[in-house]
Amino acid sequence: MTTTSAPALRFSQRREWASEQAIGFLMQQAVENRDCVSLAAGLVDPTTLPTEIVRETADEILADEAAARSALQYGTTPGSEPVRETLLHLLATQEGKSVEELGVGVDRLVVTTGSAQLLSIVAEMLFDPGDVCLVAAPTYFVFLGTLDGVGARAIPVETDEYGMRPDALEQTLQDLEAAGELERVKLVYLVSEFENPSGVSLAAERRPQVVELARRYSRSHRIHVLEDAAYRELRYDGEPLPSVWSHDTDHDTVILAQTFSKSFSPGLRVGFGVLPDDLVAPVIDRKGNEDFGSANFPQAVLQRAIESGRYAAHVDRLRASYRRKRDAMVAAAERHLDPLGVVRWRRPEGGLYLWIELPTHLQTGFESPLFQRASRVDGVMYVPGELCFAGDAATRRRHHARLSFGVQDESGIEEGVRRLASAIEHVLASATTGA
Ligand SMILES: Cc1ncc(COP(=O)(O)O)c(C=O)c1O
Repeated sequence: MTTTSAPALRFSQRREWASEQAIGFLMQQAVENRDCVSLAAGLVDPTTLPTEIVRETADEILADEAAARSALQYGTTPGSEPVRETLLHLLATQEGKSVEELGVGVDRLVVTTGSAQLLSIVAEMLFDPGDVCLVAAPTYFVFLGTLDGVGARAIPVETDEYGMRPDALEQTLQDLEAAGELERVKLVYLVSEFENPSGVSLAAERRPQVVELARRYSRSHRIHVLEDAAYRELRYDGEPLPSVWSHDTDHDTVILAQTFSKSFSPGLRVGFGVLPDDLVAPVIDRKGNEDFGSANFPQAVLQRAIESGRYAAHVDRLRASYRRKRDAMVAAAERHLDPLGVVRWRRPEGGLYLWIELPTHLQTGFESPLFQRASRVDGVMYVPGELCFAGDAATRRRHHARLSFGVQDESGIEEGVRRLASAIEHVLASATTGA
């Protein structure tokens, strides 16, 4: 008897570009090392999720026959208009302006399934294979995967404690122009508030400069700025800054991406984008091809939570809770990392992450002695910094780590940082003794 094997699968080019997400590896490690304290997970704090508010609002919606039917029905591709009205008012509050002063109407807003969907659709609508996206160094590593997924090239732009450096952005644009590649540059991507992973925000005076540069180098076509403001509501110190988007007075250059995943619940997965006029139709058309509208029920829950004031009260409580956890991580870093004398870090004013820098010879990647020691012996996990740098693998920086204070409670944070310090100490000692 002869057996015939099934013919080989022939995948699309997109299958080739779709990269395995490092997050999968981290999850597997967490499952295999149950005693590990994970400072890697980017999840939000499970204890502060708004279970009460969601229960109340869902009950209210379901008790009202008309509201229930509408919430349980398909919606429209850009999201329901009343929901977008509510989001526009929230945006005005965040910007410290009236709705009229915002300068855009609901027609510029698109509700998406998390901001991830908006980032992905924008990438699909702007990039042909080989096109260029300028990104901060370091940047949100999931978006680097999104760029890979559409065959775009990510080029890193130097960043300091005030975020992406405008002089470095200009230099990069000049270099690309000199190389005849300006044609390929479509987008500058940055996380304006408490960047994942570095925790830094783009300084107020840099915000208009980034917009101005994107405009100035928009020669044969427009270069957009994609402002990802995922952590905007999670500020623990200081005054909120107007968005980069607010400096784009014509609202034709900056795309603003926001989400309720960090400030409310990632389980509802509601995000939204504010788009330049001529990007609205392409984004809605593409979203129409994907899902013809995000789920209506979570949008209805969120709208009611915002309108009733419960969302704002929740965000206040959340900030207080994360502030305590941020303080716990800072205290743990002072107690355990500072005495090692080789670890540099900055106190984040918001967000969920502490970004640490080690001496260049102390690599942090999955295969490195530090990661192996930390995860297998000391029992702590972090996100290797190299995942967050775009560009040439040979020159990529490999001596940083992202520590999250999102999931662990205060004692977990203290214990995680203590274990990490122990792993670093061990690896430093073996490097000196050659062991
Ligand atoms: C910087 C940044 N942008 C976007 C997202 C996507 O979140 P969501 O799709 O849940 O809105 C995240 C999630 O971790 C993030 O850290």
